[in-house]
Amino acid sequence: MTKIVILTGAGISAESGLETFRASDGLWAQHRVEDVATPEAFARNPKLVVDFYNARRAQAAEVSPNAAHRALARLEAELDGEVVVITQNVDDLHEQGGSQNVMHMHGSLKGALCAACDHRWPAPMVMAPGDPCPACNAPAARPDIVWFGEMPYDMDALFEHLAEADVFAAIGTSGNVYPAAGFVAEARRAGAQTLEFNLERSAVGNQFAEHRVGPATQTVPAWVDEVLKDNKSA
Ligand code: APR
Repeated sequence: MTKIVILTGAGISAESGLETFRASDGLWAQHRVEDVATPEAFARNPKLVVDFYNARRAQAAEVSPNAAHRALARLEAELDGEVVVITQNVDDLHEQGGSQNVMHMHGSLKGALCAACDHRWPAPMVMAPGDPCPACNAPAARPDIVWFGEMPYDMDALFEHLAEADVFAAIGTSGNVYPAAGFVAEARRAGAQTLEFNLERSAVGNQFAEHRVGPATQTVPAWVDEVLKDNKSA
């Protein structure tokens, strides 16, 4: 049975209208990481951090999945095999597009997390610093986002999936942030076929066997058609 593991980044949501991080006009050109995306920033100025994610949550609520998200859902539904989507994205466009097997290694805008007791619950559209935790009542609600310096979620399970992968595809990620940037090496060690989908070669592009260069809304559906055709005739 074929197992396809897919890693996605901000580039897959770009054509839905969400900004990427490292484009010249991207999120990290407009905000300093140290001000909005670290535990230290939250300790220093929780309102600035919470407002940054409130704005992103509002933006994410306005957009819809695109043809690349939908193609991955079709792959999962129609492949005679297993498809796992590991996303670094905190939007829920994969789920809205129909994917069911989605792992959010960097957390989700839809979640709140208690900085005191680690309880997680659905975030309101607008969070306020000092919101109480429903489990321990500490005034410590924070967005359920994995910040710089924090450990991504589900690492053991992610590496198990990579070790079993027949195909590993990275879509719309710049390959600058580890551990995700190291997944291609892990998948190669497991003997997987590796493909990168991007507008350009990523920072780890030389580690992929194959490159599909272009907008994800075009390259991903075309690839899914190919994979499903081969899978049916096999
Ligand atoms: N189709 C395909 N690729 C695209 C498209 C598109 N339409 N638009 C942009 N890209 C590519 C860019 O060329 C770039 O390589 O998507 C990539 C986006 O890279 P980043 O902005 O660095 O986003 P990402 O890789 O997801 O960032 C990783 O860094 O800031 C942290 O936690 C944050 O999860 C994020 C992590």
